[in-house]
Amino acid sequence: MCGIVGAVAERNVEAILLEGLKRLEYRGYDSAGMAVLAADGTLQRRRAVGKVAALAERLVEAPLSGRCGIAHTRWATHGRPSEVNAHPHQSGERLAVVHNGIIENHEPLRRDLEADGYRFDSETDTEVVAHLVARESEAAGDLLDAVRRTLARLDGAYALGVVSADAPDVIVGARKGSPLVVGVGIGEAFLGSDPLALLQVTDRFIYLEEGDVVRLSAGGRIEVFDAAGTPMEREVQTFEHGDGAASRGDYRHFMLKEIHEQPAVIAACLEGRLGERSALVESFGPDAEALFSRVRQVHIVACGTSYHAGMVARYWLERFAGVPVQVEVASEYRYRRVVVPEDTLFVTLSQSGETADTLAALRFARERGYLASLAICNVPGSSLVRESDLSLMTQAGPEIGVASTKAFTTQLTALMLFTLALGRLKGLDAGVQGELVAALRGLPRLMEGVLALDGEIEALSTAFAEKHHALFLGRGAHFPIALEGALKLKEISYIHAEAYPAGELKHGPLALVDAEMPVISVAPNDELLDKLKSNLQEVRARGGELFVFADEEVGMNEEEYVHVLRLPRVHEALAPILYTLPLQLLSYHVAVLKGTDVDQPRNLAKSVTVE
Ligand code: G6P
Repeated sequence: MCGIVGAVAERNVEAILLEGLKRLEYRGYDSAGMAVLAADGTLQRRRAVGKVAALAERLVEAPLSGRCGIAHTRWATHGRPSEVNAHPHQSGERLAVVHNGIIENHEPLRRDLEADGYRFDSETDTEVVAHLVARESEAAGDLLDAVRRTLARLDGAYALGVVSADAPDVIVGARKGSPLVVGVGIGEAFLGSDPLALLQVTDRFIYLEEGDVVRLSAGGRIEVFDAAGTPMEREVQTFEHGDGAASRGDYRHFMLKEIHEQPAVIAACLEGRLGERSALVESFGPDAEALFSRVRQVHIVACGTSYHAGMVARYWLERFAGVPVQVEVASEYRYRRVVVPEDTLFVTLSQSGETADTLAALRFARERGYLASLAICNVPGSSLVRESDLSLMTQAGPEIGVASTKAFTTQLTALMLFTLALGRLKGLDAGVQGELVAALRGLPRLMEGVLALDGEIEALSTAFAEKHHALFLGRGAHFPIALEGALKLKEISYIHAEAYPAGELKHGPLALVDAEMPVISVAPNDELLDKLKSNLQEVRARGGELFVFADEEVGMNEEEYVHVLRLPRVHEALAPILYTLPLQLLSYHVAVLKGTDVDQPRNLAKSVTVE
């Protein structure tokens, strides 16, 4: 989704802004642009459709030079991807704006501005902001004041960066509903929609809060004001993940790197959170034990891959903690007349902690009388974490590939920790707790074993290169894993893929099965195995080609059109985590064969900060 970078520095900012945009590429975008206040007092802008590399080429032909500027990657919402619609948007020749989010009342504002003689060049909602700030500048004392007056007229979500040739060496930023951080430099100050955009210049950040407005000026001066205009001291936090996470290293794609990081990040997720034979409830915060003791039901809300993690957790929480669980996608939940039984815990799952629907669902839930809210998230300081009562960080480190991999398996691991913490308070047998804790500890090593099968999985992937459809089957807690496998395949290879609980096969999807429809199944050694095997026979009998990921001890033989890949033995409750890996690798290799843009698949964004 859109990205913002801004810099007020002691040097030419063109390279800083360009590098920032490159680091934001993973979020998904379709055009890019930059505006810099030049030494001669003019405002200069360059924009290009397509990748940041296209903008970089334009900058080689016509460089920008100045100590203050803003830049943007745009993911089209209002108006198609084009140079005219790319940010920064200008009002006249002296003022430029970059914006993430959506201005919901842009139409009446546009009519009002047009009536006042302002001419619009683009189809975007953002351009109204540029003209409004320009108009308010006539009455306002300075740029900060003009931005503040403008914000009062905007409905919707925004992170903004504004520069004006009348305020040299100043950027005004503002956030409401979309994330924005300030990078603290030495004698320099930066603005970014994501700290990753700025790691080349600083590792110290102020995470702006809802309604905050910030003025960055020469000499590294940073002034933050809350929504009421009161000057605020916001904490400066050091980014702890290091810069290495933002580079691909020797891997061909970030996705492959992130798949291979899973044993290490699962270990990081478990670190300090397990006792000898139980999970430590304190990991969820000092109030967690008192709150968890009261929990009688759990509602889980998330989007995309995170939603699939929630679906797996339902099986675990009902089985091991004995509490009823409801799981729902955030975009549906937030518009439902939800009935909340007494003592229900509200749980959100999110890699980014900034997904618009999940955040809106949390805000909606806060008005509905839940016992408390828990965020399981990968980004400390994100909006979701800040606004929840309890939180647990998944410790996956920055995930750059749009298709989520390590964020998902660490979410599952964190959800098993949650299951154990809650289960213990609800009387889960100590022996079962001990077994699961031991199995969790052994998980990273088993994952290494699965990753070692990469060559065999790559060989299987060739069967998919010419296919247009695929069907994924699973039962029980592996149904959501089948859903996640299908999502990965469609996201990055653009093959249409669907997932079904295997027991539903006869109720419709079997009609689609023929030699052109590969069927992928996860078959761990659990109580549903025999039923799954019968379902697979049904597929074979219709001429479907089967790809089965099975436990090494499962009696299932390789034959013509039945490919069996054997995975190491794992505690059956944790199999959903392990069985995710071959599906990730399969999708990855299919996408590479098809030559798609693996890390930035078309039309998708890493962090969906608009509804
Ligand atoms: C986007 C991403 C997905 C992600 C989903 C939810 O669609 O492309 O990978 O699962 O958003 O994001 P979250 O950050 O809330 O987990």
